[in-house]
Amino acid sequence: MTDAVSNDFGGLAAVVTGGASGIGRATAELLASRGATVAALDLNPDQVADPLIGIRCDVTDDASVRAAVAEAAERFGRLDIVINNAGIGAQGDVAANDDAQWQQVLDVNVIGMARVSRAALPWLRQSPSAAIVNTCSIAAWAGLPQRALYSASKGAVYGLTLAMAADHVREGIRVNAVAPGTVDTPWVGRLLDAAPDPAAERAALQARQPSGRLVSADEVAHAICYLASPLSGSTAGTVLAVDGGMYGLRLRPPS
Ligand SMILES: NC(=O)c1ccc[n+]([C@@H]2O[C@H](COP(=O)([O-])OP(=O)(O)OC[C@H]3O[C@@H](n4cnc5c(N)ncnc54)[C@H](O)[C@@H]3O)[C@@H](O)[C@H]2O)c1
Repeated sequence: MTDAVSNDFGGLAAVVTGGASGIGRATAELLASRGATVAALDLNPDQVADPLIGIRCDVTDDASVRAAVAEAAERFGRLDIVINNAGIGAQGDVAANDDAQWQQVLDVNVIGMARVSRAALPWLRQSPSAAIVNTCSIAAWAGLPQRALYSASKGAVYGLTLAMAADHVREGIRVNAVAPGTVDTPWVGRLLDAAPDPAAERAALQARQPSGRLVSADEVAHAICYLASPLSGSTAGTVLAVDGGMYGLRLRPPS
């Protein structure tokens, strides 16, 4: 069994959006270590190193997405796995962001997934083991303060994941998502740096998760690879929490 998992992506090709940083990079590296050839599609493709291939891609630009997906698929001669992970954040209540900010976040976090998926579908239909995994968030499921726009975008990702799963399961393309809690990535590092008291903010984020710590990017990557793996061939239309128990558990306060 261990050998099967260590090379479960052997012979398969993957693209990971937002693959130059954080969860995306950890996922791209894990896919490669388990046998896949992997392209990181990102605004900053120069940040990825061998064996990953960096391809410049802006998920808000349809021409850029089509060119990047085609470049990866033609280079690899196939495309089997799509990890829709690129995303940006937003803070504040429902009144905090203007229309341009709403359009920008929804453009990256939601429409970006549609652009990448529709560009990849012709190749995925030719794959014997096709899978799409979307990066959703605890914010789709739980009401977090000061995250109205971001939560709206991830709620849309949740619904989009289920609809895509229904549309494509009979074509042999499995669609699933992960819903991470707070993950220790450069993104969260930037948020902490901007807080008035970064140490207190980190402690508050850690305490919010029943596990008492932040999720690691590697832990999310393992969950994504579980869903993308040919070994999970009957798993479709699921959204897997990777949140230290934040969504499902109700602990008593520590005594
Ligand atoms: N970090 C968390 O706590 C957390 C929790 C839940 C969900 N998520 C989700 O995980 C995903 C990755 O987050 P992360 O924490 O690794 O962030 P990150 O900022 O470390 O990495 C995001 C990557 O996406 C790329 N990107 C941004 N806009 C892009 C665009 N228009 N086109 C192509 N690439 C673009 C960036 O260049 C960057 O490399 C996001 O979808 C985010 O919403 C993060």
